[in-house]
Amino acid sequence: MKVLLTGGTGYIGSHTAIELIKLGYEVEIMDNLFNSKIEVLDKIAEISGVKPKFYEVDLLDKDGMDKMFAEGDYDLVIHFAGLKAVGESVEKPLKYYENNVGGTINLLECMKKHGVNKIIFSSSATVYGDQGVAELTEDMQTGVGITNPYGRTKYMIEEILKDVAVANKEFEVTILRYFNPVGTHPSGLIGEDPNDIPNNLMPIIMKVSTGEIEKLKVYGDDYDTVDGTGVRDYIHVVDLAKGHVAAINKIKSGISIYNLGTGKGTSVLEMIAAFEKASGGKKLPYEVVERRAGDLAEICANPGRAERELGWKTELTIDDAMNDTINYLNHLKEK
Ligand code: WQD
Repeated sequence: MKVLLTGGTGYIGSHTAIELIKLGYEVEIMDNLFNSKIEVLDKIAEISGVKPKFYEVDLLDKDGMDKMFAEGDYDLVIHFAGLKAVGESVEKPLKYYENNVGGTINLLECMKKHGVNKIIFSSSATVYGDQGVAELTEDMQTGVGITNPYGRTKYMIEEILKDVAVANKEFEVTILRYFNPVGTHPSGLIGEDPNDIPNNLMPIIMKVSTGEIEKLKVYGDDYDTVDGTGVRDYIHVVDLAKGHVAAINKIKSGISIYNLGTGKGTSVLEMIAAFEKASGGKKLPYEVVERRAGDLAEICANPGRAERELGWKTELTIDDAMNDTINYLNHLKEK
């Protein structure tokens, strides 16, 4: 099977490429390199033995995508490409709607023109908004109480995919709602390495540990949680990548939606403690500050449907993610 990964040089896309190549899939990558580096292709080759064919194409470049699909003869698309900085999306909503929603419409039109009718979409738990409960299941209503344009683009794309699946009976759509991806490949060769200023917890912890950022700001310790700090469902990126392989194997006509998470919550202070443990006890400087606007106290996946229907569940732990992250940081230092 030949698979196109849009955004495939990114954090999750690159890890997914490796898992697919290991299983014999033919993988090609399209990326505009806005938030990733072309060197990732060499790292994929070093890890997997195969350097995927690469197209430097933007979702808004209709001609470039058309040429790529004309050559590619793809069986399935995994759609990772998109802008994902929550804070930036609040400042520049039109950039996010044009790129994420408009770009996806371009992709879908191109797929239709070239007879590609299987797509797996990289969605996010953010589409649930505030359900008033911590554990989230796929049958819950989405789109209500989303606090930022980034999250709304993910919701809108899900709705577009549902409508396209209704209009085209041969279309096969799987939506994967990620919780909080963390960790790096155990080889230490690839990991989360954004070009932009991160706003997620783990890349910030990484930059605090290297001294690029002075200290971690813990956004509030007065939530109704185990220790007052925010609780999230952190999933190792390798488990997440394997979830995509499981989804390919089970894709079918219509719409299928799965939470990809561990089903367990971890607080910010527990993440700090886990990182310090992996660092051999080295303290991570942090300061508790006021809550971040839009944050919820606790968000956790109920991953039962993915286990039942895809035969997939997470196997790696927070400690695995932290140990792999330290290994990755050590590799970066050696460069
Ligand atoms: C996690 C916890 C913060 C930074 C994101 C976005 C989106 C999605 C992943 C893909 C929260 C706390 C964080 C910091 C902190 N990705 N925190 N200090 O809030 O779950 O949202 O989920 O769709 O990027 O929706 O992830 O990593 O930003 O925050 O205390 O400097 O860490 O308050 O409790 P979040 P996050």
